Amino acid sequence: MSWQDYPKVELHLHLEGAAPADLIRRLAREKSVDIAGIFDERGHYSFDDFPDFLQVYEAATSVLKRPEDYARLTAAVLERSAEDGVIYTEAFISPDFCGGGDLAAWREYLHAIREAADRAEAAHGIIMRGIVTCIRHFGPYTARQIARCAAETAGDWITGFGMGGNETMGKQGDFAWSFDCAREAGLNLTTHAGEFAGPASVRQALDDLRVTRIGHGVRAVDDPALIDRLAEAGTVLEVCPGSNVALGLYPDLRAHPIAKLRKAGVKVTVSTDDPPFFRTSMSQEFAGLERAFGWDLTDFAVLNRTAVDAAFCDAATKDRLR
Ligand code: ADE
Ligand code: ZN
Repeated sequence: MSWQDYPKVELHLHLEGAAPADLIRRLAREKSVDIAGIFDERGHYSFDDFPDFLQVYEAATSVLKRPEDYARLTAAVLERSAEDGVIYTEAFISPDFCGGGDLAAWREYLHAIREAADRAEAAHGIIMRGIVTCIRHFGPYTARQIARCAAETAGDWITGFGMGGNETMGKQGDFAWSFDCAREAGLNLTTHAGEFAGPASVRQALDDLRVTRIGHGVRAVDDPALIDRLAEAGTVLEVCPGSNVALGLYPDLRAHPIAKLRKAGVKVTVSTDDPPFFRTSMSQEFAGLERAFGWDLTDFAVLNRTAVDAAFCDAATKDRLR
């Protein structure tokens, strides 16, 4: 079945990673930046593996140079998501890319992004909230500046702090200062863990960063005691099955552990991560899970409810999604 008309809630979407390839090409032309090498002959983003993906991602992001560019990006991303039936999206936004970690510059980018999000909500009904995100392979010192940006702009729109990037570099605990700073500012916390590193990384995320949600987390499936811990604590996994298959973690959806984790009592949700990179959308993710595991309306209603409950927005916004 097509899940396009079914209202969907997404908790794990990278704003820059959701940039349509044609928007990035247009911006590159306007700014005379040569990034032709990041696309294949059909115009899709092209990469070999995870480190290559991160390089292509950063090259694409290099054309987003001004707040107006982020306004165009936000408008394009939300229009696509709304067309796909997404009613709420929580987007990771990286001040490393918008303002280079400088607080005054970040405020300007954030203003442009929020205005574009408000226009998209008025035009298409889609609601967006932001999670300020540091990038692990830029290191703990840079992450502190990003956490300060997050803390200074925390509120009803910037509702969370997170970390993406290369999970094989350093330890989660190296970033504890940044997560403490964000927590003290009242922000909700999530980090990428258990994607390209194993169960130990998920344990570090829980113990050292004290997050309530985990980006991916799927590698926890290799550790029965950790599965039980996640289930008992009610930690919510932001699972991105299409992303995991596209980046080579699993050969196909049937081999993906989302159904096993769910059966073991772990709270799972479904997201796209970086949809044009992985040639996916929320409705395609739902269709894939229907094909692979026979999930139906009842299953997707549970997933959606879990996502609304775990969303970082306020109660009044959640009520609008129920
Ligand atoms: N940034 C964008 N997509 C990511 C992913 N799948 N893992 C880690 N960092 C990311
Ligand atoms: Zn991600």
